[in-house]
Amino acid sequence: MGCFFSKVVKGEGDEPKEPSVEVASDAQIIFVLGGPGSGKGTQCDLIIEKYGFSHYSAGDLLRAEVASGSEMGKDLEATMKEGKLVASSVTIALLKKAIANACEAGKRKFLVDGFPRALDQAEEFEGKVLPCKLVLFFSCPMKVLQKRLLKRAKTSGRADDNKETIQKRFDTFLNTSMPVIDHYEKLGKVAKVSAEPAPEKVFKEVEKVMKANGFAPV
Ligand code: ADP
Ligand code: C5P
Ligand code: MG
Repeated sequence: MGCFFSKVVKGEGDEPKEPSVEVASDAQIIFVLGGPGSGKGTQCDLIIEKYGFSHYSAGDLLRAEVASGSEMGKDLEATMKEGKLVASSVTIALLKKAIANACEAGKRKFLVDGFPRALDQAEEFEGKVLPCKLVLFFSCPMKVLQKRLLKRAKTSGRADDNKETIQKRFDTFLNTSMPVIDHYEKLGKVAKVSAEPAPEKVFKEVEKVMKANGFAPV
């Protein structure tokens, strides 16, 4: 079994360099994609419970970096408030470090949630980390997404859960993230699930996808 060396560098200057860590070449990665509010996090929680995956949300990792108060976090916060994508190198370094650490702890099945959101992110990740096994795509009309996000805004405390930023996030999704789905569809890697029904109904469809792709409950 081969492993490849993965040196994670968070930034320059006074930011700390991370120790070297390794991503196992036999790790299995599912990209979990869908518009903002499509239920990626909700479904990932259900998948973890039944199938024993480790879950890394790109957005959660970025918000943790913001919460850390680092200089880099300040830049990230401004970009996220604009509903734009942060530099791929930052997101990929955070994901790679998290996945590599989990590999060290013996984990092999990963849900990568909300990533890749642009074609260059997909290309860079697959070159520096691993190709994905599957793309789980939650499809949902924008009107439904907007309603969900405005409801989530009441409790999420997220700086980007407001009407203005939500619209910008939708624009980014349609213009920049949908081409990622098209790309993986051409490779035959996309399993599309309607995210409109109630969470437990959506999960029934997810279970069919998992079975069809050789993942059994644990
Ligand atoms: P994402 O991670 O894709 O942004 P979340 O999982 O955070 O989405 O879900 C967005 C909001 O919608 C949350 O408040 C969540 O409770 C709610 N939600 C998730 N899935 C559904 C669903 N199938 N039907 C209705 N509401 C949902
Ligand atoms: O996935 P989530 O909605 O939590 O992402 C929140 C924000 O994090 C995005 O709107 C974007 O600004 C940033 N992000 C990113 N690249 C990703 C995932 C998230 O820039 N791959
Ligand atoms: Mg989420």
